[in-house]
Amino acid sequence: MTELQHFPSNFLWGVATAAHQVEGNNTNNDTWFLEHLPGTIFAEPSGDAIDHYHRYREDIALIASLGFSTYRFSLEWARIEPEEGHFSVAELNHYRRMLETCHEYGLTPVVTFHHFTSPLWLLAAGGWEDPATPERFARYCDRATEHLGDLIGVACTLNEPNLAWLLKALGIGGEPAEHRGKVPLWSAAAEALGIDAAKVAPFQFTGSDAAFDIKLAAHRAGRDAIKARRPELMVGWTLANSDIQSTEGGHELADQVRREVNERFLEVSRGDDFVGIQTYGRTVFGPDGVAPAPAGAVTNQLGEEIYPQALEVTVREAHRIAGIPVMVTENGLSTNDDTQRLEYFKTALAGVESCLADGIDVRGYIAWTAFDNYEWIFGYGPTFGIIAVDRATQIRTPKPSAYWLGGVARQARERLSAVG
Ligand code: BGC
Repeated sequence: MTELQHFPSNFLWGVATAAHQVEGNNTNNDTWFLEHLPGTIFAEPSGDAIDHYHRYREDIALIASLGFSTYRFSLEWARIEPEEGHFSVAELNHYRRMLETCHEYGLTPVVTFHHFTSPLWLLAAGGWEDPATPERFARYCDRATEHLGDLIGVACTLNEPNLAWLLKALGIGGEPAEHRGKVPLWSAAAEALGIDAAKVAPFQFTGSDAAFDIKLAAHRAGRDAIKARRPELMVGWTLANSDIQSTEGGHELADQVRREVNERFLEVSRGDDFVGIQTYGRTVFGPDGVAPAPAGAVTNQLGEEIYPQALEVTVREAHRIAGIPVMVTENGLSTNDDTQRLEYFKTALAGVESCLADGIDVRGYIAWTAFDNYEWIFGYGPTFGIIAVDRATQIRTPKPSAYWLGGVARQARERLSAVG
């Protein structure tokens, strides 16, 4: 694979997690609530997850021991602000201890302020279509940065604000407000919250024009709040950008989805310090919508074609359109064949190196994900982790891909320190 010569010395090599997928017992957020409703589309509830909330110290030590220099994780807003306007210093201190542990082990913490989950009170108040949400998000960013900002290495405001539009193109969620009452999960949510079904607007599944405006305003208000306290901190959001392609007859649809999901979000990222790119593969459109994986293609656990070449395309697209530094904040594969994962990383990294060789400013490569964890609506079935977790015993076991990728990270850093 790669000779590594194009990776700069300050390049961040890391792995990522998100609070709800690993912490366990996030009982106060909207996703936990949706997991337990009648008509839920979640395959199983998140439960204890991998108990990262209590085991973060050994987890961070393990990540560092593999050779990585960066750990991307998220703060759980519902823990920090369990009721609107009430901030928990004890929970902020929990995240402070996590950040201190990263520094102790030499890891740069890349902190995501919002990774899909919101406090349940926010959902009841109209969620990601409510005009007051940007201000609420900014207030939370302000309080969190006041308490934690001195230890944060890079800040991500919102994770994948554009995912709802990609999911909509794949037929998941994204119903317009007036149709939500007909969807069992949204009508159950409305009933339990005592609100109109048209007002049920969770982050991950709301892809309306109103949600675009609210998410963008929240990102900008959050970014400004963070930068007001730490002006020199790199702040951006992280986008779910698939390599959107077409076959005969699918051209127009592909162009439309690419525009709606990738391009317009990149255009409005222009004033940020960087944009996070999160790519897993390609999405191909034919005349009837999303085309199935080509005959004979090797697929992942979700039945999608394994296509690591996508990352180079989306990094180049981000550079071309946003014109700001790019950071790969997620990239990975759901498979139970770890050899496939390792090969996937090799191809994806070769793509990143080719971007660097062309002078594109890529700041880091953060793999998804450190540990097998809760894959949202799919439950614990898909395994994206480079470290396996036995959820009965909570024992962690690194897979060969963890040693390989951590080894590349270590080698790149050692090579550079030897050179200069
Ligand atoms: C999300 C992660 C998720 C991953 C794999 C991204 O959409 O940010 O939370 O687990 O992709 O599906």
